Amino acid sequence: MSKASFIVFEGLDGSGKGTQISMLTDRLESDGIKLFTTCEPTQFATGGLIRDALGGLTKRSPSELAALFLADRISHCAVIKKMLDSGRTVICDRYYYSSFAYQGMDTDLRWVMDSNLNCPDIIKPDMCLFLDVPPEVCDHRIEAGRASREIYETPEAIKKIRAKYLDVFSLLPDHNIRLINAARSAQDVAKDVYEAVTQVIKS
Ligand code: TYD
Repeated sequence: MSKASFIVFEGLDGSGKGTQISMLTDRLESDGIKLFTTCEPTQFATGGLIRDALGGLTKRSPSELAALFLADRISHCAVIKKMLDSGRTVICDRYYYSSFAYQGMDTDLRWVMDSNLNCPDIIKPDMCLFLDVPPEVCDHRIEAGRASREIYETPEAIKKIRAKYLDVFSLLPDHNIRLINAARSAQDVAKDVYEAVTQVIKS
């Protein structure tokens, strides 16, 4: 027996979320689990405004950015809800924990948390997997893989964001958050990810 679950991946830029999501979806699909894989920011119009700001094309204040992510998430949740209702497990690359860690650094964290957590249209995930990698490793991976850096990809920002994620998690005791040591081989990480996710899906 499996239940349609809402699973979120979080981590620093370069923490290996993409690789782990693709390894997990392959394995769950071969188990016969129906899936919908998605990410934030979305491909909707709000997601486009956000990407322009992340790339430095448009200047936005941290609060403006937090509000754009909130609007993007509200639209996204309408789709997520439909998928869950149709019996699919949803796997999402980043969710509101990113807003708490990234926008929460530069604007009022409480406001960012309350606006997301108290919004009636925003769904609480069944599990959040935080792929934890030392900031220096992420920095190397970003350097090796990108022609240019987004606004949150400087070495100083990466360190601060990891600390903020950990602070935020301690404020959310009623959330199912798993810290996964992701500074290991992709196969070892994938094994822990699969075990954690199947506990939720098969519960
Ligand atoms: P992107 O390059 O799309 O994906 P990733 O780094 O996850 O592979 O970058 C998304 C960026 O958006 C990333 O730097 C984190 C940031 N972000 C926020 O600042 N707040 C949010 O609420 C979300 C969902 C993402």
